[in-house]
Amino acid sequence: MQKLIGPFKQILPLNGLPLKGALKDEQLHVILNGGVLVENGILLAVGDFDELRNANPSAQIEEMQGDSVLLPGFVDCHTHICFGGNRAKDYAMRIAGKTYLEIAKAGGGIWDTVTQTRAVDEAALVASLVQRANRHLAEGVTTIEVKSGYGLGIDEELKQLRAIKTASVQTKAKLMPTCLAAHMVPKDFNGSQEEYLQYMVDDLLPIIKQENLTNRVDIFIEQSAIDKQNALVYLNKAKQLGFDITVHADQFTTGGSAVAVEVGAVSADHLEASGEEEIGLLAKSQTVAVTLPGASLGLGMPYAPARKLLDTGACLAIASDWNPGSAPMGDLLMQAAVMSAAEKLSAAEVFAGLTYRAAAALKLDNHGILAPGKLADMQAYPCADYREILYYQGKLKPTSVWAGGVTNKP
Ligand code: NIG
Ligand code: FE
Repeated sequence: MQKLIGPFKQILPLNGLPLKGALKDEQLHVILNGGVLVENGILLAVGDFDELRNANPSAQIEEMQGDSVLLPGFVDCHTHICFGGNRAKDYAMRIAGKTYLEIAKAGGGIWDTVTQTRAVDEAALVASLVQRANRHLAEGVTTIEVKSGYGLGIDEELKQLRAIKTASVQTKAKLMPTCLAAHMVPKDFNGSQEEYLQYMVDDLLPIIKQENLTNRVDIFIEQSAIDKQNALVYLNKAKQLGFDITVHADQFTTGGSAVAVEVGAVSADHLEASGEEEIGLLAKSQTVAVTLPGASLGLGMPYAPARKLLDTGACLAIASDWNPGSAPMGDLLMQAAVMSAAEKLSAAEVFAGLTYRAAAALKLDNHGILAPGKLADMQAYPCADYREILYYQGKLKPTSVWAGGVTNKP
């Protein structure tokens, strides 16, 4: 059954725009009085509403009331929303002046969430993950990457990855899992960094393949987590096993982005500490540069150099990093809007970073664009001009969200 949805005051299809580099709003193709024709979750046509209605008289009409602006659903290509407990104690210490490392030393940090996540069973992890995914979906995020990394042991990492798989059939949002067993060496592992990583290569990655839990591997390269040399060895082994690579890079100190480019990672994420050299490397590469403004806001730190990355020619995506420690807010649009004012990003650059450029970081070419043959993942905002969306800095939320052409009714 074909369905014609509209009319929309404006549609931003974000189609035909370059994958890399700066974008001006003038490059956006804005369809006025638009409509979309959908069948079986796929877009058949995007164009003038009246023309589509005349050309498809048998299509069922889903009529929009009032002014609205249609965008592709957002793709959040970096989250850690599979976790137990919270870290409000960390946050209180942080706003009172303690640093990330001081908090970790005082028993907070990643290890605290590992302890809290290990303490809940798989069913409870699934339930809280579905709830967070549905909150994101209601706010227009139709695709969500979700990392493990709070298990840090074979069974505990598998528990998280299986929870993500189970949750993915309980929400209309598309969940994309990633193995982050290399988040840090767990405090209860009796051995060196090399030994821990080799253990993951030998005993975890093959099971992940076997159970088809994910084809993506992530690592946190940082002085306080995994060092560059060990990371390179681990990532090359993961690559040989057929995994796509993504890297937590240059968050506090540099080094991670060079490793990411060297191994041909699909993305290098964080980049708050990246300088000219790292920016140049990323811009020349096929690795998507992912900025995580939610972590900057959560930690009270500078943003990644998003403007410079774009001007140098990088593909810049924007993701939430939603996690209980550094980025507890989880409001992707608000984070992107607030950062864009500081970093001087155009609306076109922000929407590209939240849609098709983020989809590239997940190697999903059917997502983040409204065009024939692409998924009908869409969201409509109650306004007459797309510029109002960032103007309200995240407070204007979509009134309709479609995942695969189906209206999301939580
Ligand atoms: O992306 N930087 C490393 N990992 C997460 C934080 C995880 C945590 O603090 O629980 C991040 O910010
Ligand atoms: Fe992260």
